[in-house]
Amino acid sequence: MPGFELIGKEEFAEIKHLFDESKILFRHSFDHLRDNIYKVKDFEEAFADRMKVLHALGVTSGTAALRVALAALDIAEGDEVITQSFTFVATAEAIIESRAMPVITEIDKTLNMDPVDLEQKITGKTKAIIVVHMLGVPTRLKEIKEIADKHNIPLIEDTAWGCGGYYNDIPLGTYGDIGTYSFDFAKTMTTGEGGMVVFKDKKLFDKAAAWHDHGHENNPDLPRWEDSRSSSGFNYRMNELQGAVGLAQLKKLDYVVSEQRKNADLIKESISDLPIEMRTVPDGSFETADALVFFVESNQTARRCRDALLKAGLGTKILPEAITWHFAGTWDHMPGLVNCYGKDLTNAFPKSLDLLNRSVSLPIAINMVDNFPKKIRDALISVLK
Ligand SMILES: Cc1ncc(COP(=O)(O)O)c(C=O)c1O
Repeated sequence: MPGFELIGKEEFAEIKHLFDESKILFRHSFDHLRDNIYKVKDFEEAFADRMKVLHALGVTSGTAALRVALAALDIAEGDEVITQSFTFVATAEAIIESRAMPVITEIDKTLNMDPVDLEQKITGKTKAIIVVHMLGVPTRLKEIKEIADKHNIPLIEDTAWGCGGYYNDIPLGTYGDIGTYSFDFAKTMTTGEGGMVVFKDKKLFDKAAAWHDHGHENNPDLPRWEDSRSSSGFNYRMNELQGAVGLAQLKKLDYVVSEQRKNADLIKESISDLPIEMRTVPDGSFETADALVFFVESNQTARRCRDALLKAGLGTKILPEAITWHFAGTWDHMPGLVNCYGKDLTNAFPKSLDLLNRSVSLPIAINMVDNFPKKIRDALISVLK
């Protein structure tokens, strides 16, 4: 969560450099006016380097990143794209915007995609799988990638919450075919609004780069207004201000994650003897520790935990309070889902509903209140004793 906690002189220095030396806020063209300053391009290269991938594309948001990823895979009407029941609405929105059908799997105790349910939901129409590393815990990537490979289906990792985490020493977002990241203001690193898409395959990258820029192929031998194109597209271009902030934030990513992990460990230790069950973390995971989630016996107890935490000047993050934005079983405002699952979605994903109803998610930041492990423990004991 705390990229925004660290916005300071480094981000300002990047913006000042942009204004002092260039003043060009568009990522392309104006070459004779910008003194060779290309912040988005530099940010993409630095991000690709950090994630150990060859290709990275800056975009306007994490939602745009998902839409661009699906466009690169030619997802269209009649296709099915599988994702998990616990995610932000954005994942399903990107599928619906692509005119495909969102097919939703249950989650397991990792609170991420249940591989067993995934295999059951694959059909001849499945054209992509989007896993989500919710709240910084890696999905069961090994099992899921094996299933995806067996059926020859591309795997997208929605890494909105997982930026800076690893699975078996591989940066999250780079295990599958395409990884998407969000840099909105609540994420581990932020550009205010913004996102990134990373690719292993140059052809997919080229297609995405053109599609996110109205089909522009940015042919180096042609001026932009005489540029070549082979497809239509849209505009999801990142601008130079976002690129400048991203360059500074990326340098802070490892620090953010290591501080979050330290604070999460302190909380874990302080509540280890309480009658709760911690969320399962797959072997080989290196979490970003955006939040610490545990299960209690009922929704009523989860809500009482939240009330007690609020009373102590603390709080929860998403669970239990924001379930309506993050659980597909509540999205009866999305015709794409209702068409598939019927008007009453409440019981469409019973296993997920049970787990999420009983979950409490503690937010982790760099700067936490004084004595936070004890304060959290005391608040929880008042409910769980
Ligand atoms: C899992 C997930 N995917 C995608 C997004 C969309 O990111 P953005 O807010 O940058 O559009 C979010 C945002 O919170 C998210 O949580």
